[in-house]
Amino acid sequence: MPATDLIQLRTDRHTYTLTTRIARGSTRDVFAATREDDLPCTVKICRNVTDNDLVVRESATLGRILSDPAVYDLASPYFPVPLESFTMDPGDGRAHGVCAQMTPDGAISLVQLRAGYAAGLPAQDAAWIARRLFMALGFMHARGVIHGAVLPEHVLIVPDSHGLTMVDFKAASQGEPVRLIETARRPLYPEEILCRERVGPATDLFMAVKTLQYVMGNHDVPRPLQDVFDTCLHADPRRRPQDAWALLDTFDETIEALWGPRTFRPLPWPADTSTPTKEN
Ligand SMILES: Nc1ncnc2c1ncn2[C@@H]1O[C@H](COP(=O)(O)OP(=O)(O)O)[C@@H](O)[C@H]1O
Ligand SMILES: [Mg+2]
Repeated sequence: MPATDLIQLRTDRHTYTLTTRIARGSTRDVFAATREDDLPCTVKICRNVTDNDLVVRESATLGRILSDPAVYDLASPYFPVPLESFTMDPGDGRAHGVCAQMTPDGAISLVQLRAGYAAGLPAQDAAWIARRLFMALGFMHARGVIHGAVLPEHVLIVPDSHGLTMVDFKAASQGEPVRLIETARRPLYPEEILCRERVGPATDLFMAVKTLQYVMGNHDVPRPLQDVFDTCLHADPRRRPQDAWALLDTFDETIEALWGPRTFRPLPWPADTSTPTKEN
């Protein structure tokens, strides 16, 4: 795609000015953009038109997750807010699927975070990420949505404010087998996804714990906390916790018993990296 053709995207309703490409996902290129009314947003463009249906699916899923007005204010920071989905021809004569979404400023993925810590993040410093991740899953599961790809690249955090936003809902399911698997991440998937069986909240909780283990790297996890994590990693999903909110309660009790009352703990940036690396 010639970059010059991508600078402005016009739809019937809006104009998006793309600034920089911030990531390359498995199917889409992701750009930072500004709408004509100065709203900062993220624009994702399908590289292959055969993936266009995924954009539509993702927008519908996000709409479903955010459809309960009673919890909108609490839940919306954890998810991209869909603005518009459309198609555009970047110059190859084909209509590529595009979506514009609102996501937090200054977010980095857990892959970028992990790149800054050679040995991983100590469990006590990773605790807020675990708590926010369980909350995000609690909100989406309450709407019947299973993410199906809880992976480090799909969890964005804002280190300064301890914000967390989940992205990439193209594999999401309401219980039916997950159709899309990121093959490079097979070790982080539970058997029920790899065997194309039905999925549930326990599927996402398994992947959330695998993702947290990725973040913590080689650091020892205190035994009581490891016991909580282990319950989420049973091969049989029926033997795992089934409820993200209940797991959060157990997690909180465990960390408070270990480390005392919870307080805001600034993320300690490694001395040799002022900012984490950018790609993905
Ligand atoms: N708002 C954002 N800010 C920073 N990075 C983002 C943002 N949205 C997505 N990303 C990064 O872009 C990558 C690709 O987006 P994703 O939704 O996963 O698309 P794909 O379908 O191509 O995998 C993600 O893995 C994530 O790390
Ligand atoms: Mg992705």
